[in-house]
Amino acid sequence: DIPFAESYKIKMVESIRKSTREEREKWINDARYNLFNLSSEQVYIDLLTDSGTGAMSDRQWAAMMTGDESYAGARSYYNMKKALKDILGFDYFLPTHQGRAAENVLFSVLVKSGDIVPGNSHFDTTKGHIEFRSAHAIDCTIDEAFDPENEHPFKGNIDLSKLEDVLKDTPREKTPFIVVTLTNNTAGGQPVSMANIKGVAEMADKYGVKLLFDSARFAENAYFIKTREQGYADKSIKEIVLEMYQYAHYATMSSKKDAIVNMGGFVCFRDEEVFKKASTYNIMFEGFITYGGMSGRDMNALAVGLDEGTEFEYLETRIRQVAYLGQKLDEYNVPYQRPAGGHAIFIDARKVLPNVPKEEYIAQTLGIELYLEAGIRGVEIGTLLADRDPDTRENRYPKMELLRLAIPRRVYTNNHMDVIAAAAKNVYDRRHTITKGYKIKNEAPIMRHFTVELEKA
Ligand code: F0G
Repeated sequence: DIPFAESYKIKMVESIRKSTREEREKWINDARYNLFNLSSEQVYIDLLTDSGTGAMSDRQWAAMMTGDESYAGARSYYNMKKALKDILGFDYFLPTHQGRAAENVLFSVLVKSGDIVPGNSHFDTTKGHIEFRSAHAIDCTIDEAFDPENEHPFKGNIDLSKLEDVLKDTPREKTPFIVVTLTNNTAGGQPVSMANIKGVAEMADKYGVKLLFDSARFAENAYFIKTREQGYADKSIKEIVLEMYQYAHYATMSSKKDAIVNMGGFVCFRDEEVFKKASTYNIMFEGFITYGGMSGRDMNALAVGLDEGTEFEYLETRIRQVAYLGQKLDEYNVPYQRPAGGHAIFIDARKVLPNVPKEEYIAQTLGIELYLEAGIRGVEIGTLLADRDPDTRENRYPKMELLRLAIPRRVYTNNHMDVIAAAAKNVYDRRHTITKGYKIKNEAPIMRHFTVELEKA
């Protein structure tokens, strides 16, 4: 048997540097035990995010050179327009500088005070843009998603009965849309099945409500449909993507993920009238409607990235690398949200650090331990992120305490995965000696995890 290998070879490299444990102890102390405060040079393997951290291909870099920087009607805009029509099937779109900007532009038209927006684990900024408008995001993700050991193949799915309960109780004019997050990032990079997309679309139809796809990792979602869902094995990723998007009225996109660019985003529309209204906000917040905060060269690279990002061989390489890390962790019995996600492994911090009290930020403590162990930077998806209840100001303790290890696209090799797994094993093996976490010295009133200052408990 011939083993599996990457679908690309490497043309350019960037050096990274190891450090000593003594150096890291000083650096993390200077960073007030907040991993966001580290400089990237203090990090050996950076798994903070898969957003904007991917490696562009030679084709993308070549497209950069032919970017058209005209203010209005640039050739690059039309390249992007064609890619969105061919790949997602939308006629109308606006470029934006990233995903949250796309949310801001679209929600400025559609979301008003008192509205209800059901969905599957709305991403932080999506929820932020809903709550900022005094509307409410209601999470209708299936219960299986909150049990890390459950091997459900589509843990990102929406629970149709939870969704119907929300729709039944809310007047149609108070439900601007349902958000389907592809893949469901917060639940562990878990996919939504085609059957579930169809089910949600039918229910949306029944109640006269529109569908928005939060599309950051739509191509990874399509890969899981092809490899896990009956009836899709023989379809191409591009065919599956077109089938998925048939059901969407709107799409917002962080192109920093599955379009494999370092910066960029867009919002797509079926409806010309909403597109026209949103155009005004785009001009105010982002830029003229044919560039929306993006350089021409970046729109060119995005168009190529969408094409490459929806190729099966690329996706197979990418998602098998994440699965490889999962298998290594299995060998060492390190527990994580199963099955392995599309863009990341989410380590189950409660099980890895059973002796750290929840008041001392378990997942953050694990993040610091992994950094001290080998200079690896993950991100806390736990109590710091869940923040305080706006009314009581008490900590909100989430259903899971996770440390996300997000894998940048086409950046690290499986040797790096081996280092990550070995470091996680070492922390796991000394779990009984780790009994103390951290306490907060300073925090912001909202989105505290980015800037929080901690000290040893
Ligand atoms: N939607 C999802 C599902 C996301 O994961 C993100 C960003 C956004 C929207 C917002 O896009 O960053 O381009 O403004 N996720 C990054 C992450 C930051 O690390 O998961 P953006």
